[in-house]
Amino acid sequence: MMINITGTGRALPENTVTNFDMAKLVETSDEWIRERTGIVERRISTGDTVASLSAKACELALEMAGKKAEDVDLIIVATCSPEMLLPCAACQVQGIIGAKNAVAFDLNAACSGFLFGLSTVYAYLQTGLYRNALVVGAEVLSKIIDWTDRSTCVLFGDGAGAAFVEACEETEEKAGIISISQGSDGARGMVLSCQERKLSNPYITEAIGEENNFVHMDGQEVYKFAVKQVPVCIQDALNKAGLTVEDIDHFVLHQANVRILEGVAKRLKVDVSKFPMNLNRVGNMSSATIPVLLDELNREGKLKKGEKIVLSGFGAGLTYGACVMIWN
Ligand code: ACO
Repeated sequence: MMINITGTGRALPENTVTNFDMAKLVETSDEWIRERTGIVERRISTGDTVASLSAKACELALEMAGKKAEDVDLIIVATCSPEMLLPCAACQVQGIIGAKNAVAFDLNAACSGFLFGLSTVYAYLQTGLYRNALVVGAEVLSKIIDWTDRSTCVLFGDGAGAAFVEACEETEEKAGIISISQGSDGARGMVLSCQERKLSNPYITEAIGEENNFVHMDGQEVYKFAVKQVPVCIQDALNKAGLTVEDIDHFVLHQANVRILEGVAKRLKVDVSKFPMNLNRVGNMSSATIPVLLDELNREGKLKKGEKIVLSGFGAGLTYGACVMIWN
């Protein structure tokens, strides 16, 4: 069985916030943000939700794949910033697009979410339980960011990307997803965290939990984790695929920070020009970064049939993953 991405789509809020705009909110500068992160501007929601952005991205992915919403078997929305605890964002998307025959659920693996969603879909499709799936990475991080904390608020953006994934009969030419590698390190999870609501019930006198329920990050620890772990994970996926870094045409990585991407490229001994980037325009959108970038490359005709691609995500959890695929 071949598992292929046959359609991609993305949706971003219209509101663009530049580094100069950020400097009006907190003590920072365009120069600091640009040099440390590579980010120049990001999109920030003024009403778009994880569900509404996801639905738009899904409709575009379906249109590209030539499918109707009723054809969809499975919808997975990877997000760590849904508007609602219940119902999940994937069920909201199902309702909006009218995918009445689908089963839908959310998955939270933070910035690795799209990759983990894709691997979940891969496993489902390999077993034959479902024939196709929409896998989405979507975030409205602007609502879980402390807009007075300059060390985090400058980093993130809102957006959604989707891929339509189908199981197809094997052909002589290898195509689709070839290998996957994933890992988690829960023991180090608190270097990047965000507290949910406090524990409160009639059996405790004081609610338990943090007062400040925004994203907290130890940036340097996250940097070290990413630059060390991601190359190992990519190498593992390549070994499983029987390929080397030289065989790969594009490394489509989670867009956290230009310095992380440069660090990973250096460790893999790959020219950084093979690492497409869009974080200068959209910032770090957590689970949405990979599918948004993939859709940009796809629609710009930059992914050619037969090209070998590595997708790799890493983030809170800590979680990390890589996937090798041949574009079809
Ligand atoms: N503008 C100006 N100054 C700032 C800003 C800002 N936006 N943010 C922090 N500073 C200041 C700090 O207050 C500190 O000042 P001090 O020396 O007077 O105390 C100084 O800059 C250095 O702060 P550090 O936190 O040490 O800055 P660092 O050089 O580590 O850069 C950064 C921070 C860019 C976050 C870096 O740690 C990094 O690249 N981390 C990787 C993690 C990352 O990119 N995470 C993204 C989200 S997680 C993910 O997607 C996986």
